[in-house]
Amino acid sequence: MSALLEVANLRLKYRDPQALDCVSLEVRKGEIVGIVGANGAGKSSPIRAVAGLEAPSAGNIHFAGRGITGIDFHEICDWGIGRVAEGRQLFPTLTALENLKMGALLPRARSREKDAMTEVFALFPLLAERKHQLAGTLSGAEKQMLAVGRCLMGRPELIMLDEPSIGRAPNVVQQLVHTVRRLNGSGLTVLRSSKTSPRRSKSPIAPMSWKTAASS
Ligand SMILES: Nc1ncnc2c1ncn2[C@@H]1O[C@H](COP(=O)(O)OP(=O)(O)O)[C@@H](O)[C@H]1O
Ligand SMILES: [Mg+2]
Repeated sequence: MSALLEVANLRLKYRDPQALDCVSLEVRKGEIVGIVGANGAGKSSPIRAVAGLEAPSAGNIHFAGRGITGIDFHEICDWGIGRVAEGRQLFPTLTALENLKMGALLPRARSREKDAMTEVFALFPLLAERKHQLAGTLSGAEKQMLAVGRCLMGRPELIMLDEPSIGRAPNVVQQLVHTVRRLNGSGLTVLRSSKTSPRRSKSPIAPMSWKTAASS
């Protein structure tokens, strides 16, 4: 089976140093794939490059067979690549509902906003209860749900979760694990970064493969 996402020999420079040097990874449809590595190893950078937020100095990225190099990041989102950033990047002065609606502004998602909202509230019933609350006043766990929910509102085919469990309480991590499994079970492909391999930490998430981030 050909890969849904294919990253080949990616190089990325921020200033002088080579942040990523020849990074390659493949994510096939229906897989959960992890990128594991210490702080600064290069986990967020490939995710940001796939999302079109960083311009690689060399290498190729293909999604569903289409090259994404040089494509505007809005268009990349509209191809079905969703990203939940490390710091969640919610709009704190908007309500949870308004944040969710922002996720459905993509052309691919606009006409299905209502259905997507129903699905997100079914996945995270607490968000339905908090929908009129300002995002900035939500608890850490609720913010995490909102960030994932907003991404799902864009109806992605691939969801990239950048260190979703960082700094989260064990029960929040458990909930996240459950959510990722449910989403994957319903056909969503997942690329997730983490400091520790869930296999090593005996987490119930069992990715098909792990790419170790090892850049200089
Ligand atoms: N905006 C930036 N400007 C300069 N260097 C950066 C920037 N973002 C990341 N880097 C560097 O690129 C390397 C990889 O970073 P990153 O992908 O963020 O790692 P991780 O997500 O694993 O912590 C690190 O050496 C980091 O310092
Ligand atoms: Mg990072």
